[in-house]
Amino acid sequence: IFQNDEKSSQQITDSTSKESGAMITSSNTSYSPTSSDKTILVLKDQLRRAKIYIGFLPSRGNHGFVKDLRRRMRDIQQALSGTTIDRQLPKNVHKKIRAMESILTKIKQVHDNCAAAIDKLQTNLHWTENQLEANKQEATYAAQVAAKALPKRLHCLALRLTNEYYTSSSNNKHFPYQDKLEDPKLHHYALFSDNVLAAAVVVNSTLIHAKKPADHVFHIVTDKLNYAAMRMWFLANPPVKAAIQVQKIEEFTWLNSSYSPVLKQLASQFMINYYFRTPQNKPDRNPKFRNPKYLSILNHLRFYLPEIFPKLNKVLFVDDDIVVQQDLSPLWSVDLKGRVNAAVKTCGEVFHRFDRYLNFSNPLIAKKFDRHACGWAYGMNMFDLSEWRRQNITAVYHYWQEQNEHRLLWKLGTLPAGLVTFWNNTFPLDRSWHLLGLGYKRNVNPMDIEQAAVIHYNGNLKPWLEVGLPKYRSYWSKYVNFDHAFIRECHIHP
Ligand SMILES: *[C@@H]1O[C@H](CO)[C@@H](O)[C@H](O)[C@H]1NC(C)=O
Ligand SMILES: *[C@@H]1O[C@H](CO)[C@@H](O)[C@H](O)[C@H]1NC(C)=O
Ligand SMILES: *[C@@H]1O[C@H](CO)[C@@H](O)[C@H](O)[C@H]1NC(C)=O
Ligand SMILES: *[C@@H]1O[C@H](CO)[C@@H](O)[C@H](O)[C@H]1NC(C)=O
Ligand SMILES: *[C@@H]1O[C@H](CO)[C@@H](O)[C@H](O)[C@H]1NC(C)=O
Repeated sequence: IFQNDEKSSQQITDSTSKESGAMITSSNTSYSPTSSDKTILVLKDQLRRAKIYIGFLPSRGNHGFVKDLRRRMRDIQQALSGTTIDRQLPKNVHKKIRAMESILTKIKQVHDNCAAAIDKLQTNLHWTENQLEANKQEATYAAQVAAKALPKRLHCLALRLTNEYYTSSSNNKHFPYQDKLEDPKLHHYALFSDNVLAAAVVVNSTLIHAKKPADHVFHIVTDKLNYAAMRMWFLANPPVKAAIQVQKIEEFTWLNSSYSPVLKQLASQFMINYYFRTPQNKPDRNPKFRNPKYLSILNHLRFYLPEIFPKLNKVLFVDDDIVVQQDLSPLWSVDLKGRVNAAVKTCGEVFHRFDRYLNFSNPLIAKKFDRHACGWAYGMNMFDLSEWRRQNITAVYHYWQEQNEHRLLWKLGTLPAGLVTFWNNTFPLDRSWHLLGLGYKRNVNPMDIEQAAVIHYNGNLKPWLEVGLPKYRSYWSKYVNFDHAFIRECHIHP
């Protein structure tokens, strides 16, 4: 799959740079009125370049490039229609050419900035290969996955930050307040993410509403590809008073396939085939089931919280597609009544019950669980780690994960595994703590959004994507500092 993608993106790059070369030649010669019919050639050349960009730019850019470009294209097409010699062109054609050239130049700059950042990063990666302990093939593969999953501008941001991290002086790479990281009296957050901007919004929005920011501690775990970028962001934008820790999953050597059944399964050929082979004779033709995201170990880290935080008693697990709108500290004093997990239940909607996620035709499932039981949501969960250890919930999780080796109990994702693991062990939080659905529902009541302590863009329409639902975007984007140099340079706009 990836090889094909690489080829086609190579083609785009090649033809774009060729066209950009042509632009320089033509704009140098095009304004000579004496050379016959040169202007028509210039117009046609502009149209050709514009069409390439149209195919290449996201179709719903906030910056208006695309709209502007389409308008200029119509202008040029109009000027050209039915014309074969320069003399038939309208009088104002040079004005049109200049307008088109100006927009094409702007787009080219955006594109080149990003291309230059990628070049620079690749050089850096080469130098720091030992430091990153990156196996080259693995890094290339991972870079492709990252580039596929993240839009260009967020990719650009991660690259700029990574570059900064390795080129800035090495003295200043430590976070303050490290003594707080293991203090069980404080409010600890677990955030597992490979998206710098999303993580930044979670941290920023939490602290803006915290009554005592100094009591909050953020533990971010990312992967090696995003590690430098994630550190750099929070070094450059240190949260006031709150403590922060950034780790990469590769540091957790205890989390390996001899310990974790899910890692063993992920490594097995069966799973590699399951996720990556073309689906010719596969029953699951839904591409969602083959999304490499579901392979990411980061997603499974939530089942190892007691191991990740051996000194802590309680941790608030948060997804990176949430925004915090109130002080969350009261959550640490909710009495979970001996339960390990606290979450909002989702049984308001019939399709969020157990039988939606688990295979009740399987006797193991049918015997143990109630098909009509309420599901609950990941995204903002309080976990009582002391209870987790006392009840050895990790063993429960491992048991079910092993039973599901052949995907007969559930297909994908972490929620079904969570439902079986925390069965009869989930305390229902009041719904106003956690409002779901901003990543797929189109008619969430604005009052409900404003009153929720945490809003969650679960679904595919993330607020940082072009496809994000515009009416919910500002609840997220108001926590992004769009004046930040890197954000501006990567053309990330509200
Ligand atoms: C795998 O993890 C176990 C414990 O979880 C640990 O004892 C062992 O050393 C690890 N193996 C490697 C190769 O790191
Ligand atoms: C559900 O479980 C049954 C019994 O193990 C199995 O035959 C069936 O294929 C499973 N269904 C799915 C969709 O995996
Ligand atoms: C939890 O269960 C596992 C078996 O899955 C066992 O190896 C481990 O010792 C148990 N831990 C405790 C604290 O009982
Ligand atoms: C549910 O958990 C409670 C303790 O929290 C226990 O008393 C009860 O027997 C459990 N019920 C089931 C069906 O497992
Ligand atoms: C955090 O959010 C506030 C607005 O709510 C914004 O002014 C600020 O720039 C943000 N900080 C960062 C580091 O993004």
